Amino acid sequence: MDEIHQFGGNWTADKLERLRKYLVAYATIMNKKNFIFSYIDAFAGTGYRILKKEEYHEGFCLLDFDEKDSQEFLQGSARIALQVEPKFDQYIFIEKDAARCQELAKLKTDFPLLKNRIIIVNSEANQYLKDFCKKVNWKKNRAVLFLDPYGMEVHWDTMKAIAETKAIDVWYLFPLGIGVNRLLKKDGNINEAWRNKLDKIFGASDWYQSFYEDKEQDTLFGPLHRTEKIADFSSIQEFFLNRLKSIFPGVAENPLILKNSKNNPLYLLCFAASNEKGAPTAIKIAQDILGRF
Ligand SMILES: C[S@@+](CC[C@H](N)C(=O)[O-])C[C@H]1O[C@@H](n2cnc3c(N)ncnc32)[C@H](O)[C@@H]1O
Repeated sequence: MDEIHQFGGNWTADKLERLRKYLVAYATIMNKKNFIFSYIDAFAGTGYRILKKEEYHEGFCLLDFDEKDSQEFLQGSARIALQVEPKFDQYIFIEKDAARCQELAKLKTDFPLLKNRIIIVNSEANQYLKDFCKKVNWKKNRAVLFLDPYGMEVHWDTMKAIAETKAIDVWYLFPLGIGVNRLLKKDGNINEAWRNKLDKIFGASDWYQSFYEDKEQDTLFGPLHRTEKIADFSSIQEFFLNRLKSIFPGVAENPLILKNSKNNPLYLLCFAASNEKGAPTAIKIAQDILGRF
């Protein structure tokens, strides 16, 4: 491996296992239908990941793994998807970093039987996805999309483009603690760049009214007005789920909060289905997977 891709903690393995379970269920169902069905990984990485120290401390002692187990544990989302049975008709891996794309290209050698089904795209995910969603014939195609950004990279207009296909199921690692909550400063004094980031991820600016309140306090010098943050992880989650529900016919009601070793929420693993007819089944499967421990 030219480049080793380090990220995540124990929650990373958890997120990937839940994704894998959904992909198995999805491919099993779609295999019996007449659609061309694809797996799209919009923040694909290298295909590999390595354990960070935090993971060893969280009950996973590497010495306890035999060689096979530890290798399995190192698979990133792209490699996991390629091993799912039955196979997808197409695998689209989007990654904006050119060196990581070179690593991804090796997947064609490592999975020779699937090499003609693998498409590697060195591009910015939002840009590529918006264009892709418009140009594919969604009467014949279906897809599962995994959005696994580090932070606040996914734009709301991308989510809208995905929903408008009426053909894509999406798993989205929403940056609940790692991004949004950090930008929501206690005094509500948020600079323009941060406001823009929040507007882009929510696709609206009414988050401010939901997350802040004007408080009046009587003082010796008369009433004093100040803004106070009322948002917490649960209200941010509710706000975001409502945003998803405004554009997707199906949204899993039990997104999973992924926490670090200090029990701080980092991400919210969400699921939404864009096909009205398929949504009830998709949501049932996703909610079951999200609810399992
Ligand atoms: C958390 S990692 C993905 C890990 C991968 N899902 C896995 O399980 O192996 C996020 C990846 O997204 C890439 N990335 C960041 N911003 C991007 C963007 N705007 N468009 C496409 N890729 C991006 C990064 O280079 C990084 O490789």
